[in-house]
Amino acid sequence: MFLDTFDPYKPAIIAWPELEPDAFKRLTSLPIWDLAVQTEGKAALRMKYYAETLTDSLVKEAIALNGFEEQRHKDVLHHMVTFYGIKLEPEPPYQRWHGPEQGFMRTGFGECFDSFFAFGLFALAKRSGFFPPVLVETFEPVIQEECRHILFFTNWVKWHLRNLPPLRRVIFLGWCVRVFIDIARDRLGTAKDVGGGENFTAKGHEELGADINPRELLEECLIENDRRMARYDARLPRPKLVPRLVKIALFFMPRVKRSDKTETAGERA
Ligand SMILES: [Fe+2]
Ligand SMILES: [Fe+2]
Repeated sequence: MFLDTFDPYKPAIIAWPELEPDAFKRLTSLPIWDLAVQTEGKAALRMKYYAETLTDSLVKEAIALNGFEEQRHKDVLHHMVTFYGIKLEPEPPYQRWHGPEQGFMRTGFGECFDSFFAFGLFALAKRSGFFPPVLVETFEPVIQEECRHILFFTNWVKWHLRNLPPLRRVIFLGWCVRVFIDIARDRLGTAKDVGGGENFTAKGHEELGADINPRELLEECLIENDRRMARYDARLPRPKLVPRLVKIALFFMPRVKRSDKTETAGERA
């Protein structure tokens, strides 16, 4: 599936649209571009490194392709910041994670968080007009590719687990739990930093100019996640951990009475 659904777009030939002054200011002042470029850089390195160590030719090819696509995301971002004159901090030297498999797992679980929230925030940015339609179109393949990546990663975890002998299976499961908790903690910290002491996911909807509360943002993420995943073979297990955590969080979140002027995610679904 992963190899068959490859999209051969080329970052160098993307025609970046001229933006109206307001849209330009909104895009260039988003505080996420350094983090986005560095996350893609790290992901590309870790995936290529892990692919080099593999012997199963099909899985090796798929993970190398995943690494290529992460590098391509970084290239897309580089072209974008250059075109719009966004100043980035110098990138830190990218280092290989000490164990190739653990590095791959950290990126995989990290993407399960990042992509899930990116789906919802991107839909909000589209609906509120934060990103003009031409820019939405430009970024659409990148966002969809992340959906494909986390679907692949989820299936890799299951496949890998099944191929391990019993004792190593237990060790691998322990690793999964450890990495998942580490990543969850890391993402919570990053959300606070990016939001300047506030939670960026919780406040992100305000940055994106959407009249929507945190509960609706999470509902939006769930709907978008299902919508994007629906494009792929229904037999493939879907990523469940993050959506389940979000559903649990939603269960405990109060329902806030909202203004009637904005259509809710639930109403559109
Ligand atoms: Fe990426
Ligand atoms: Fe990815």
